[in-house]
Amino acid sequence: MSPRALGHGFIGGNKMAKKLNRRDFIKSSAAAGTLAAAGGLSAKARQEQGSAPAIITGSIRPVVISSGNGFKARNGGTETCVERAFRLMTGGMDVLDALIEGVNIVELDPADASVGYGGLPDADGYVTLDSCCMHGPKRQAGGVGALQGVRTPSMVARAVAQISDHHLLVAQGAQDFARNLGFEIEDDLNTEHSRGLWLEWKQRTDSRHYLTPEDRAQANAEVGLAMVREGKIDPEHYYGTINCNGINGAGDICGVTTTSGLAWKIPGRVGDSPILGAGLYLDNDVGAAGSTGRGEANLYNLASFLVIEEMRRGAHPMDAGMAALRRIHENTVERRLLNEAGNPNFNVSFYVIGKDGSYAGVAFYGGPQRVFAVCDENGPRHQEIAGLYGEI
Ligand code: GLY
Repeated sequence: MSPRALGHGFIGGNKMAKKLNRRDFIKSSAAAGTLAAAGGLSAKARQEQGSAPAIITGSIRPVVISSGNGFKARNGGTETCVERAFRLMTGGMDVLDALIEGVNIVELDPADASVGYGGLPDADGYVTLDSCCMHGPKRQAGGVGALQGVRTPSMVARAVAQISDHHLLVAQGAQDFARNLGFEIEDDLNTEHSRGLWLEWKQRTDSRHYLTPEDRAQANAEVGLAMVREGKIDPEHYYGTINCNGINGAGDICGVTTTSGLAWKIPGRVGDSPILGAGLYLDNDVGAAGSTGRGEANLYNLASFLVIEEMRRGAHPMDAGMAALRRIHENTVERRLLNEAGNPNFNVSFYVIGKDGSYAGVAFYGGPQRVFAVCDENGPRHQEIAGLYGEI
């Protein structure tokens, strides 16, 4: 049974959209036309599609941002994550519901091997998923870790926020919670693609032994990274994740992060993605920040929380994100994690929105190949990530 069979409103809150006061809707055709340019469609085309008019209740320009896969995966459809989230959000849907509708595209797309169905599995071949979400105006948060069998962990995370008294459920307990709510539980979320890559990794290294740190780096990481270099694994999918944050015209800020975590991880490993303050943090009075990349580095520093605190002190999203990256670097002292220049030999990215609708995508390493996704009144696009240490 799909969770929708229980009525999407109970966890989805789509009914919220219908409760919006009509005075909230823009009546000016000029303003509506500007916002309706979202998704690359003209106002006329959006009207023909039956899209609701965009809403602005203040001076804030609505925007949705995400990691780069938010403007790539389509799951066989026409829309990407940021397009759908922006369209629904500016059409009046609750911001978190709109963002989750967006990331569902990526979670369900078998071609994205970093999130949800078809995500790269753990060392034993099980796809285990992490996700969390935060709702700024409601001060609600929920997360799931090491969840197996549910393609859309973001929806289970939202249910944890909305109908439990807890913030984080893991492993069997998270799955039982999802089953009780009517989510379909599948035996295996591998696709032929993800299973084939796991089998090759298994053949090339023995991950079942606990090695010295040096051997671990050589035996495990090197095989994985070699598979990236050989073009078998998209580099974005090795630690791959999607983080998606949005702010509407009323200044409501929400965010969601969802992932299959690190490829070939030790079973039971939970990364930064479901941890509030690490994979995602927001304050409705300040802004939102979420992350992709090496979760262990982010977890040690609770860096998304740090980004928000920097913005609370007045920093622009770009500067706040760079401050968090510098903090991560300061705490990265193990030689195996540093390159010859003494800089981190891994990447971490932050996707940051300020309360005024300003935004930034930052990482240790940027460059033309490292992009994040944006959708605002100018439509969806990729923008280059700003690198603290230049290009990768
Ligand atoms: N940032 C995703 C992970 O490390 O699991």
